Amino acid sequence: MASSCSSSLAFSLSLLLALILCFTPTQSSKTIGKGYRLISIEESPDGGFIGYLQVKQKNKIYGSDITTLRLFVKHETDSRLRVHITDAKQQRWEVPYNLLPREQPPQVGKVIGKSRKSPITVQEISGSELIFSYTTDPFTFAVKRRSNHETLFNTSSSLVFKDQYLEISTSLPKEASLYGLGENSQANGIKLVPNEPYTLYTEDVSAINLNTDLYGSHPMYMDLRNVGGKAYAHAVLLLNSNGMDVFYRGDSLTYKVIGGVFDFYFIAGPSPLNVVDQYTQLIGRPAPMPYWSLGFHQCRWGYHNLSVVEDVVDNYKKAKIPLDVIWNDDDHMDGHKDFTLNPVAYPRAKLLAFLDKIHKIGMKYIVINDPGIGVNASYGTYQRAMAADVFIKYEGKPFLAQVWPGPVYFPDFLNPKTVSWWGDEIKRFHDLVPIDGLWIDMNEVSNFCSGLCTIPQGKQCPSGEGPGWVCCLDCKNITKTRWDDPPYKINATGVVAPVGFKTIATSATHYNGVREYDAHSIYGFSETIATHKGLLDVKGKRPFILSRSTFVGSGKYAAHWTGDNQGTWQSLQVSISTMLNFGIFGVPMVGSDICGFYPQPTEELCNRWIEVGAFYPFSRDHANYYSPRQELYQWDTVADSARNALGMRYKILPFLYTLNYEAHMSGAPIARPLFFSFPEYTECYGNSRQFLLGSSLMISPVLEQGKTEVEALFPPGSWYHMFDMTQAVVSKNGKRVTLPAPLNFVNVHLYQNTILPMQQGGLISKDARTTPFSLVITFPAGASEGYATGKLYLDEDELPEMKLGNGQSTYVDFYASVGNGTVKMWSQVKEGKFALSKGWVIEKLSVLGLKGTGQASEIQINGSPMTKKIEVSSKEHTYVIGLEDEEENKSVMVE
Ligand code: GLC
Repeated sequence: MASSCSSSLAFSLSLLLALILCFTPTQSSKTIGKGYRLISIEESPDGGFIGYLQVKQKNKIYGSDITTLRLFVKHETDSRLRVHITDAKQQRWEVPYNLLPREQPPQVGKVIGKSRKSPITVQEISGSELIFSYTTDPFTFAVKRRSNHETLFNTSSSLVFKDQYLEISTSLPKEASLYGLGENSQANGIKLVPNEPYTLYTEDVSAINLNTDLYGSHPMYMDLRNVGGKAYAHAVLLLNSNGMDVFYRGDSLTYKVIGGVFDFYFIAGPSPLNVVDQYTQLIGRPAPMPYWSLGFHQCRWGYHNLSVVEDVVDNYKKAKIPLDVIWNDDDHMDGHKDFTLNPVAYPRAKLLAFLDKIHKIGMKYIVINDPGIGVNASYGTYQRAMAADVFIKYEGKPFLAQVWPGPVYFPDFLNPKTVSWWGDEIKRFHDLVPIDGLWIDMNEVSNFCSGLCTIPQGKQCPSGEGPGWVCCLDCKNITKTRWDDPPYKINATGVVAPVGFKTIATSATHYNGVREYDAHSIYGFSETIATHKGLLDVKGKRPFILSRSTFVGSGKYAAHWTGDNQGTWQSLQVSISTMLNFGIFGVPMVGSDICGFYPQPTEELCNRWIEVGAFYPFSRDHANYYSPRQELYQWDTVADSARNALGMRYKILPFLYTLNYEAHMSGAPIARPLFFSFPEYTECYGNSRQFLLGSSLMISPVLEQGKTEVEALFPPGSWYHMFDMTQAVVSKNGKRVTLPAPLNFVNVHLYQNTILPMQQGGLISKDARTTPFSLVITFPAGASEGYATGKLYLDEDELPEMKLGNGQSTYVDFYASVGNGTVKMWSQVKEGKFALSKGWVIEKLSVLGLKGTGQASEIQINGSPMTKKIEVSSKEHTYVIGLEDEEENKSVMVE
């Protein structure tokens, strides 16, 4: 939550001034810098090329230009090119190599190879798919794709490199469609809109603000182009944690960054799936998620005591709505202090008894945790933190801020001592309460005060809700250094606000003298890594962490929710684009607060929201302290929709879990934009109202009030309605279809050529996953020949690693074909013992798309004819083949 910090008159005036400055036309890059000239370039003995750039003409706008730059160019893999530019003489801040492991470019100052004065002969440095070409005076560079000669990135002469201001631009062709550059509230949908500024700087700004920068920073975009009817996707990452504005103008893109280095990675693709594969190979594969985390989660701020929580769990059960995980916001804490329990509202013995009960049936319990540690001499966590000296400092003392507990200090997760202390606190808390995961919030990092604070003499700071939100500390303006007031003002929070606005003063220092100015946007990321380590050490199980702030690489450790949204139709719409963007960022376990955080949703909105939210990878209902209760059973119609939509989710859990495995193996998002499967179909490029789970399950929800129909885009092919498995939409060249969508009815379609593994569902994933399997097989409607494929991954779902080869997992590829009157179905089992040991069988096959019995007079399974139990559904497209009595046919999952 963004607090309503009272702003002093002085602050309002400075904000006003800043706003005025904001509307002053920005300096053109030509006047800011005249660019650089390349004075040498040589091959490095360790691979790659090293060059030196000399500034052409210095000036003082936004600070003085750095005279000599060092360029490092390397084709790191066949599909990845790195271009790194930094000060040749002095080490500059970069995203720490221990947090985001990658190759270190050769150290500054080391002379490599031949004389630096050697004549410049090379104009092009080729890799297998990406070509780096450059001009020398002025120095510009371009990145081209070998296979189609397209220019992917092409800088102009105006490279600017000052201590606190870096600028570079690329031109873009008109057919480029761009995605990414977040976290942004994406009011215009997933495709980037020209002339909107994309500011990247982690901020606790409620997601109710449209098109503003939010909690995370992901300076990465995917560029999808259709060149002569063939689609090509590539991505560009600028790995830099400093605040930046990225101006996308349709025909160009300009980065204006307030520090760090240019560390570009060009990712060749060429398909969107190739892009995320290559991208997550660099930044870390998405974390494996435990099976239960794919179930439904209920949370709210304001579960005042344990009985309320117990009631919620009971009521879900009574309403027969699936629920796997119950959460506590900070209500369980004592005075909002991390790692504590309120002895009155959440007495430990009773809480333990409750947890024992829910754990026995397979349910889980997660609590919130904020980074701000209450400044309170009698609080153990604080005492141990002070003793270990783990806090971020300002002028030698811990930096004082205010969050929910009142005055707080912020742990510095860049300090190894902090990581140990944090792990120990997690362990102590876990000994107190056996939690199953942690929700790390407010980690942008959020502070209700700006500036330098002191605890007011003789005045108690209120903590918690209500007036506690307001900054009660005495706040003075800090002595402005160039870190607190950089020469270039990024557009943080959607209005020009100082970089230290409601966060840590940017001149504060971390471990080893690192400035908050540089490390600000990796705060949440560093906390996530420490939390992951802490949970793994304590539980020895696959950690589940939900983090609000994220950075490049966060997906390797955590899931993400999209923060404080609104209970409005617009927030519902926006949730789809943000979710899809996070899939591209390598954070595939993502969802939004279902029914909206604040203000309260209407019954109809909540109804429609669960129909979308049931298909978010991370599916959680969460509400604000002041909102009325909005658990799904609170309204009958919402409960109906929940049973329907979540009922389907719980049937497709094995499919979702397999997608989780795929994400972990190859970065493939769980929820994907349509263009991931249909990149050639340009019509779907901007589609932000529908999405795919995996490559072929399409959700087309209602996103407007009062609508009982939905206009959905159907890319070319046959699509089968998942709820009745009979109706098909056959779209020859792609078309828009108006579908009925009465309340309680969500349109979910399965694409042709798919084999989808399902189970029978249930109210808790632990039960649902013990039920027999069925496979839905889809062929192109009525086609004389066709094929279908699918896969299934199963394992002991809480093992830290998700992989094959440990005897505790199973992976099956399914294949089916139709032709010459025969449907053949076979499987290839990579490892099957795990599935067998659990006694899993496939009891039913549903074959969709065949025309009458004539088309499939024989069915073969793994080479043997199958005779029994073929039912042709009333609609001509469907066969249902039961396997209940066919012992030999039950074994399709087995080696
Ligand atoms: C922040 C979170 C929200 C949470 C609240 C209280 O606003 O985004 O989800 O409920 O803090 O902890």
